[in-house]
Formats: sequence, C-alpha cells, structure tokens
Amino acid sequence: MVIQFLLFLAFYAIARRLLLKVRNLPPSPFPTLPVIGHLHLLKKHLHLLKKPLHRSLSQISRWHGPVTLLQFGSRHVLVISSPAAAEECLAKNDVIFANRPRLLAGKHLGYNYTSLAWSPYGNHWRNLRRIASLEILSTNRLLTLLSIRTSEVRSLLRLLAKSGGQSLNMKSAFFELMLNVMMQMIAGKRYYGENVGEVEEARKFREIVTESFRIGGVTNIGDFLPFLRWMGPKGLEEKMMALHKKRDEFMQSLIDESQSSEGDESLEMAAEGGKRKTLIQVLLSLRETEPEYYKDETVKSLMLVLLLGGTDTSVATMEWAMSAMLNHPEILKKAQAEIDEVVGHDRIVNESDLPKLSYLHCIMNETMRMYPVGPLLIPHESAEECCVGGYRVPRGTMLLINLFSIQNNPKYWPDAAKFKPERFEGMEGVRDGYKMMPFGSGRRGCPGENLALRMVGLTLGSLIQCFEWNRISDELIDMTEGTGLSMPKAQPLLAKCRPRSFTSDLLSQA
Ligand code: HEM
Repeated sequence: MVIQFLLFLAFYAIARRLLLKVRNLPPSPFPTLPVIGHLHLLKKHLHLLKKPLHRSLSQISRWHGPVTLLQFGSRHVLVISSPAAAEECLAKNDVIFANRPRLLAGKHLGYNYTSLAWSPYGNHWRNLRRIASLEILSTNRLLTLLSIRTSEVRSLLRLLAKSGGQSLNMKSAFFELMLNVMMQMIAGKRYYGENVGEVEEARKFREIVTESFRIGGVTNIGDFLPFLRWMGPKGLEEKMMALHKKRDEFMQSLIDESQSSEGDESLEMAAEGGKRKTLIQVLLSLRETEPEYYKDETVKSLMLVLLLGGTDTSVATMEWAMSAMLNHPEILKKAQAEIDEVVGHDRIVNESDLPKLSYLHCIMNETMRMYPVGPLLIPHESAEECCVGGYRVPRGTMLLINLFSIQNNPKYWPDAAKFKPERFEGMEGVRDGYKMMPFGSGRRGCPGENLALRMVGLTLGSLIQCFEWNRISDELIDMTEGTGLSMPKAQPLLAKCRPRSFTSDLLSQA
C-alpha cells in the first residue's frame, strides 16, 4: 500500500513537472494542494512561529530558482529573487506589472482601490502620482517645509539631552518625530511631545495611528482563501472597515477646519520669505482651478498615504541604522569624526550638509541594503500575459520582488552578512542597478525617496553629532526582524546617550 502511494506521488510529481514544461510556466514547488495551493509552505509565516514572509520565500527560491511560481489559494504569485529577473519585471515589463492586486487592505483602507498606493495603473493613478510628485513631494515643496523638519529634529535633541543617561525607547522617539513632521506638513499640527495644543484631538490621532499599524500590518489569509473572510465573530475585515471610518472622519475634520478658516492668517504658518501653506491648504487652493481632481476623498486618501506610508518606513530605517551602529562602535566613531570635520562644533548639522557627509550616506545605504523596509516591495500584478526568465507568466499574476533576498545574497554582495558601509564608498545615490533598489524602481517606485533621505540623514546626523551613544548592556542589539509591512525590528531599540561637551550650547542657540 505504502509503495503504491509513493509510486503514485512520484508519477504525479513527474506528470506535473512535464505539464509545467509544456505550458512553459516557471518552476513551482511540489505539491500544490487543492484549495490552499502552496500556503502550507508558509505556515510558519501565517501561524505559530511568525517567520517573516520574505524569509520563507527566500528559502523557496533557493530550491526552485530566482523565478518561481506559487499558488496562494486561488491566486498565482510570481516570486523574483535575482537582479536580472527583477529588471525584466520592472524595466522591460514595467507597464504590464504596474498594477496592484486587489487585496482587502486596498479595498477597506485604500478607499476602494483609489488611493495612490493601491490604485490600478491608469488615468486616476497617473493623476494622483502627478499631484504627489509635483505638489507635495517636489524638491521645491520640501524646501518650503524645511523649517518643520529642522525644528522637529531639534525638539528631539532637546528631549534626549534631558534623558540623563536613562534607557530610551528609540523606536517611539523616531515615531513621534516622524508623525509630528508629517502632521505639521499636512495640517500644521503636532500631536506628540512639548506644546501639544488640542489634547483630545491628539489622543484620537494617536489611537488611529496605533490601530493603523496594528491592523494594516497583519497578513490577511482572507486575501487568498476568500471563504475565510467572514469567519470568526469579528473578522479582520470588519476591523478594517471600522478603522477606515475613524480615519476618514478624522481627515474630513481637518479639511473642514481648513476650509472654515480660509483666509485666517494665523493658520498659515509664518516662514522665511513669506507664507507657508499646509499641504491640505495647497490641495484645496488647487481645487479652485481643477475641482474634479481635488475632491475631498482624493485629498483625504493622499494625506493618509503620506502619513502612514512615509512614517513607518523612515522610522524603521532610522532604528535599524542606529542599532547597526551601536553594534559597531567603530562605525559610529568614524561617522562622528566626519561630522566634526565637515560641520564642526559651532552649529548643528543641517540638511544642506548631507551631500558632504559621504560616510553617513554609506551607512544609510548599507542599512537599506541589509534591512530594506520594503523587503518584498508592495505587491504588483500583471495586466496581461508576459515573459519573465523565458517563462510564460499568466495575466493577473501577483508579483513579489524579494528585495531582501537580492540585497543579502552573497552571490551579488561579498561578505553579504557583514555591516560594511565602506562597500558603498564612491557610489552616488541609493541605486545600484537592480541589485540595490530600496525605494523600488520604475513607474510604481517610491515617490517619497527625497523626503525620506532628508529626514533619515538629518536625524541620524544630528544624533551622532550631539551625543555619545551606548547600548544598555554589554550584549549586542538583537537584529532579528519581526513581522509587519515595513520589516520592523522584532525588539524595539533601547539605547542610552550622553550629550557631548558642546551640545548644550548648541541646543540653547537652536
Ligand atoms: C526610508 C524610507 C522609505 C522607503 C525605504 C520606501 C520604500 C518604498 C518601496 C520599496 C515602495 C514600493 C515600490 C514598488 O511597489 O515597486 C514604496 C512605495 C511608496 N512609497 Fe515609499 N519608502 C520610504 C518612504 C516614503 C515616504 C517618506 C513617503 C511619502 C511621504 C512614501 C510614499 C510612498 C508611496 C505613496 C508609495 C506607493 C507608490 C505607488 O504605488 O505609486 N515612501 N516606497
């Protein structure tokens, strides 16, 4: 009986392989189970051990090659883990793969697939992207908002200076910094730290943020096995709908407030060289000439994408970078020496120093190589049949580019497991073909790269310049990744700092 069963399995495996060859589909692990497909291979990710998805997929690619086809329930999923195959998807087939799959998060938290990150490729997406790139995240707009970033970073420095060498939760500190920066840009408000105005509004906002990261970061099995969607007394989908309602009402109240105070100069923040508008005010003023492009729903969804997409990613990058430097004090020292030489002790680092801080730039690159906060990018989907690696990829296939696997593969990176910023010496920017692209590439690449690099650079540069940093014990910082959308550290970073001899003078001038 056992022998017959084994023979049957062997026959089935060979027949399946032949069928894949005839249909010219990419290699696929055996077995593909009825209903669930290959989800059984991800059980560690979905259940008990909570292994991050990019790790499980790296293991599958090691067996089946850089172009692998999986079946997640009813969906085809193409997993890519080589620079050449990534280039085929994001350059040669860029338009075909410029769609996003219709996942539940996009439906309930992405305004029914109309938000910038979840919208399918087409006129609506192109229009949002144009608004984001030209009106919100352009170099010019970022320059007008420079003083917000500078003053928020200085406010963090003052807070740290008062810590008296106590253990600090750096993840929370970075989060509060980024959320204050984003909210000041969007609506001219700060909800964390000193001088918080409307206390009840700030509490509501903080609750929304916490829930967004808790619910938005969960892998939803209902995306792949639709019959499970409505199971359980209060499924994830219901929680998403309730969260959406809260977020929408909150953003609407900000728009209403902005509209009712139009012309109220006190809300227009005074800035060097004239008046500086909040991003909501910018979009509402554009509505006067192009009302069809700037409906309330568009403004709300754009602001939410910026607020939530921009925060988590930048925070996680700063936390990984500080953790890596604390485990390599010689790197921290070298970065400090560079800042001392370029900036000196008479003023605090500012954004215009960043292009001259080449070692800091190498540290940021090495952090984003080893710990990319978009380890699988955001899923793409093919709009029509195409060819990748010589294989046929059916229309409607979800694409996962395993950036984590590419950027940590010793085949492309000598000493890949070692944190070695020097490997980037002489490299400009953050891209190295398709073997290093922490912000993605092509049409759906990250529109917030410029803002992110400024914030991460300015924050790290200021922390390194103004303080001596230490781990809270002799043990190395644990660099294990947790699960979640933006590859967070499993354990939040705790660290201690002491102001340097000149810091209090600098902070009193700031
Ligand atoms: C270190 C920080 C950041 C990293 C590493 C990062 C990385 C990424 C990656 C890998 C993608 C997906 C690309 C793809 O699907 O092919 C993405 C998309 C996106 N990012 Fe970022 N990002 C960061 C910060 C930001 C910031 C600050 C903002 C805005 C304020 C932002 C807004 C977006 C948006 C809107 C998308 C979706 C674009 C679209 O679908 O058209 N990101 N980002």
